[in-house]
Amino acid sequence: MTSSSCSNSMAITGFTLTVLLVVGVPSTNGQLSTGYYYKSCPGVFATVKSTVHSAIAKEARMGASLLRLFFHDCFVNGCDGSLLLDDTSSFIGEKNAAPNINSVRGFDVVDKIKSAVEKVCPGVVSCADILAITARDSVVILGGPSWDVKLGRRDARTASQAAANSSIPPPTSSLSNLISSYRKVGLSTQDMVALSGAHTIGQARCTTFRARIYNETNNLDASLAQTRQRNCPRTSGTGDNNLAPLDLQSPAFFDNSYYKNLVQKRGLLHSDQQLFNGGSTDSLVRTYSNSASAFSSDFVSAMIKMGDIRPLTGSSGEVRKNCRRVN
Ligand code: HEM
Ligand SMILES: *[C@@H]1O[C@H](CO)[C@@H](O)[C@H](O)[C@H]1NC(C)=O
Ligand SMILES: *[C@@H]1O[C@H](CO)[C@@H](O)[C@H](O)[C@H]1NC(C)=O
Repeated sequence: MTSSSCSNSMAITGFTLTVLLVVGVPSTNGQLSTGYYYKSCPGVFATVKSTVHSAIAKEARMGASLLRLFFHDCFVNGCDGSLLLDDTSSFIGEKNAAPNINSVRGFDVVDKIKSAVEKVCPGVVSCADILAITARDSVVILGGPSWDVKLGRRDARTASQAAANSSIPPPTSSLSNLISSYRKVGLSTQDMVALSGAHTIGQARCTTFRARIYNETNNLDASLAQTRQRNCPRTSGTGDNNLAPLDLQSPAFFDNSYYKNLVQKRGLLHSDQQLFNGGSTDSLVRTYSNSASAFSSDFVSAMIKMGDIRPLTGSSGEVRKNCRRVN
């Protein structure tokens, strides 16, 4: 009895310590720097850019898919390349987690980029940093703003399907759910609204917006609902993977039309329209819809902040040779 209550209280202390360590780590980080590969791999930028360029030339949507990979990596235990690890018989990774399965894409392009970079400077550039540079290059190639990417992240030796399930907000999220999932990784409501502008590019599957186009008549433009219903049948299980552009006008051009759509009740996802639905973020959506430059500058700041989420630095983690598996 005594010994059991003693080990119990030790377990609680250990648990509390773990919680403090995990939750108490600041989400911003002073150790990343834009010049990190200045000496060790000066060719990294040109190498990444040319591979991203050919992938997007082949398929414009790939720019969107690559940008999304960075978001799905950073929100799950930080920007540590964990998303890129394949499942093995002894290891369940993030690729098949609920927000990722049948949805995230571009891993083959990341492999191409990694092998090109390995040829120029073997064993130097992490997969986590490759995602950060790739995201920036994709935005620029599709007509969006540029920024200097902070680097020096190392790659995780583990991944967490459970964390991927719980950390990436689903498209059914309410405004307060969205605000709190960003808050958990140290991002503000403004960051959340600005980052959501990434939905100015790319595609979504019917299954992610079906409930909205059939049921949300109060805040959805009727003609958009009708258009989207044509390629997204009401019955679940039919046409689930049929695609529609997140931005109806220019899904391969990075501009502020996402916000113009929201003001006109033309957000495709339930979560998109939550940003302009009579709540606290309406005024910021209006600002971005009227000012491409306000959007660009806040998007850039928020991307840099997202890239700062809990990186592994120093001797933590490793620089993976192959992004799909630990060394
Ligand atoms: C605010 C919370 C967010 C939610 C609920 C959300 C949800 C989604 C969903 C459901 C899709 C469609 C996936 C599919 O049908 O397979 C999607 C696509 C996409 N998301 Fe988000 N997203 C969010 C934030 C972001 C952020 C912060 C970024 C990047 C900075 C981003 C970038 C993208 C891109 C580019 C696509 C299109 C991908 C492609 O065409 O392959 N999203 N998102
Ligand atoms: C993650 O979600 C998927 C789909 O809902 C589920 O099958 C899987 O068991 C979950 N994984 C973990 C580790 O919670
Ligand atoms: C619309 O809402 C009703 C009532 O909540 C629900 O039964 C139905 O499945 C929804 N339809 C779609 C396509 O999600």
